[in-house]
Amino acid sequence: MAKGTIVAGVLAPHPPHLVYAENPPQNEPRAECGWETLRWGYERLRRSLAEIDYDSLVIFSPHWQTYVGTHFLGVPSFQSLSVDPIFPNLFRYHYDLKVDVALAETLEQHAREAGMVTKMMRNPDFRVDYGTIVSCHLTRPEWDKPIVSISSHRATQYFSADVMQGNMLKLGRATRAAIEASGKRVVLLASNSLSHRHFTSEADVPEDMSREHIYHHGQYLWDMKVIELMREGRSRELVELIPDFTEQAIAETDSGALTWMLSALDFPNYPAEVHGYGTVIGTGNAIVEWPHYRAGGAA
Ligand SMILES: [Fe+2]
Repeated sequence: MAKGTIVAGVLAPHPPHLVYAENPPQNEPRAECGWETLRWGYERLRRSLAEIDYDSLVIFSPHWQTYVGTHFLGVPSFQSLSVDPIFPNLFRYHYDLKVDVALAETLEQHAREAGMVTKMMRNPDFRVDYGTIVSCHLTRPEWDKPIVSISSHRATQYFSADVMQGNMLKLGRATRAAIEASGKRVVLLASNSLSHRHFTSEADVPEDMSREHIYHHGQYLWDMKVIELMREGRSRELVELIPDFTEQAIAETDSGALTWMLSALDFPNYPAEVHGYGTVIGTGNAIVEWPHYRAGGAA
């Protein structure tokens, strides 16, 4: 069997507002418009990924939160209704997705053998988290690729951002080894926002863009610093900063998603492609691609 490979890594944030604004048939509420700079960024990402051949998407979601170990979706398909707990007015999404169970089992095995606490999620009635659904929809709205979803073990909350960092460096290495052993071509998605300070009140019309802006200049400075490191290929330096970024910008990197992905990509030193940046209810969101296949990082 040929050695498997990671063909690309993507920072693919999951604000449900972006799905709402696109009006896909799966989502019940209707919008007039909104958050175009981010939605056009996702369109550029889709065009870029359309040029490459791959088998599966592996996503790490901040909204599948597990307190005992790292869990992996392990049922071939899921269908249900996903309602955002904070924004039921704009996200009521009927999902129907397929899981690459063989790849999930290979990932779980490698993580377990690396000494991590792991579990396969075998409950067919499990409700898939909206982070997984939103990022996968925005990356590949056709839903024609199977996915693997990985939970966020809440080590930042239980211990500290530094403990989370150590765990995710290990999970990233195990992910790379597992994908190589699987023989598959895989795209990785880190489903997290950057700075994460929310508005405390919502506009009457959610897509009223006169209300949308960064919440605090310090948050914006942090986002720009992090994006600059991505654009310059300085991913080891970026990973070193993630615990401080997480604490000072209340960043959604607390989930471990970005550290996991950069570790799995073995800390790329080529420039990442920033497809878009913008805020959603004040939180900073960037759509960023590490085109591993073009950079020679993938066979
Ligand atoms: Fe989130």
